[in-house]
Amino acid sequence: MLLLIPTLLLAYLLGSIPTALWVGRWFFDLKDIREHGSGNAGATNTFRVLGKKAGSFVLLVDALKGFVAAYGLPHWLINHDASLAPYLVFVQLACGALAVVGHIYPVFAQFRGGKGVATILGMMLGVAPATVGVCILVFLLMLSIWRYVSLSSMTAGVAFALLQLLPGTPFYPRQYPGFMIGFGFVLAGLLIYTHRANIGRLRSGTESRVPLWGKK
Ligand code: G3P
Repeated sequence: MLLLIPTLLLAYLLGSIPTALWVGRWFFDLKDIREHGSGNAGATNTFRVLGKKAGSFVLLVDALKGFVAAYGLPHWLINHDASLAPYLVFVQLACGALAVVGHIYPVFAQFRGGKGVATILGMMLGVAPATVGVCILVFLLMLSIWRYVSLSSMTAGVAFALLQLLPGTPFYPRQYPGFMIGFGFVLAGLLIYTHRANIGRLRSGTESRVPLWGKK
């Protein structure tokens, strides 16, 4: 039990690593990516402002933060404290959620981080990989139709919550369906909240689209 609080704190600090901001500063001499593009310190804006390589790197690291927090840290914890083993899924979700909070409100970047998409992706890969696979398909389908990353991210988040409603869902952790339904909707709500500026731009027709298959 003694290690639980430091582990949760570590998950928040891990999520707080402002990858997009630091990549811009260290490798591109860009003072603050939040003053460019959409103003978001996330992978999409890194693709937009700094290009494919930097964007892919930020996406990978931001997703890794969620995965390590939701999978690595909790498994390390139960290896050192077997009394927590029956609560593994809850520790995973708590650590993952704290990494997402850290990503959105990073202590290392004046509490102004990203929108949580990549870190939620990594977190859920560590907890419910089959569900995430379906959500990635939903994301790609939406992106190929509309070419809005924000809309695709929110739709994938809502799909994650709705998938938890499936009766007898085969998705892990199936032993806590009620809890996961609530958790899924909280995550979807959080994504909609962090994308509120994007929703305004989508409504006014000013949201930027990603170029795809040669289209502008
Ligand atoms: O990764 C967040 C994405 O859904 C939207 O980012 O930069 O277009 O606001 P952005």
